Amino acid sequence: MVTKGILLVGGKGTRLAPLTNNTPKPMLRVAGKPVTEHQIIKARNSGITELVLATSYLAEVFEPYFGDGSEFGISITYAVEETPLGTGGAIANAASQLKLRDDDSVVIFNGDVLSGHNLDDQISLHEKSNSDVTLYLTKVQDPRAYGCVPIDQQGRVQSFLEKMENPIADTINAGCYIFRNRAISQIPIGQVVSVERDTFPKLLSEGFNLFGYLDNNYWIDMGTPHSFIKASKDLILNPELSTATSGVVNDSLIGSNTKIHPTAQIGEGSTIGDGVQIQENCIIYGSMISSQATIGAGSEVRDSYIAAGKEVPPNSKLIGQIIGG
Ligand code: GTP
Repeated sequence: MVTKGILLVGGKGTRLAPLTNNTPKPMLRVAGKPVTEHQIIKARNSGITELVLATSYLAEVFEPYFGDGSEFGISITYAVEETPLGTGGAIANAASQLKLRDDDSVVIFNGDVLSGHNLDDQISLHEKSNSDVTLYLTKVQDPRAYGCVPIDQQGRVQSFLEKMENPIADTINAGCYIFRNRAISQIPIGQVVSVERDTFPKLLSEGFNLFGYLDNNYWIDMGTPHSFIKASKDLILNPELSTATSGVVNDSLIGSNTKIHPTAQIGEGSTIGDGVQIQENCIIYGSMISSQATIGAGSEVRDSYIAAGKEVPPNSKLIGQIIGG
């Protein structure tokens, strides 16, 4: 049984700037809840009872929201890196808080991935194959932007390939791993290490057993503003993807104290924050309108993000835009 987990939430999220200037990427709200909350609930639903949040960038914002985890039905502690240790260094640092025996396993989540993958099945494969690491893999149409992870018929990882122009496989690392402690022990403590670039290739070359769990259900990596907007829209339109999503009405989430003119049309997975004003004849589809923003009459806003307090002039047409940060 796997009951312990680590959430990697310490990255700077530079590709998501300016949205990450004051909020770390994992605390950005998707379908009304921080990304981390969706992941915590997914972990809890698969039997994880003890989680360590590996924090660094803006570390201080996590504990006031998640506390000791009791509100979320799970125990949460925090491993803070004074200077970021990279994804591998963060795993080694956080694992030292978990009192693990060599054979114990830990589920590790990248803090910027949302998925509908079957974590129970990934854990079962890990246990059945007695592997040292079991990686969740997904197929993508264009693997050129990713490192590829080819597997054989039995699911054994063959290699870790860097990004390349003509990839030989379309299976990629989808950002959720189950590590046995004997594999974590191979990561040097207190050093900057990348789990993707350093740890995985090293484990493979040293003969550790690495398996891929291929699952082609919903997967999104929220590295960029557009994928972040899309993730929120997808979770609102498909609430079954996360049991943390709540309050969806007419394919939208509407905050409190809003002023929405009855002629405005809102839908397709939009989020309307508290105190937002939407004037007459607006169309808001697939967009995130942050608190206290105003959308002027006759505007059309699709697949866009409007920062808190912004005023969009009347008759604006915004398609796929990021306004403010
Ligand atoms: P970019 O700067 O835009 O590439 O984003 P990022 O900083 O989040 O990096 P990346 O997408 O590669 O990170 C994958 C996951 O690991 C994210 O959830 C990050 O929060 C987390 N992460 C990355 N680096 C560190 C680190 O040094 N320490 C910790 N604790 N987490 C990290």
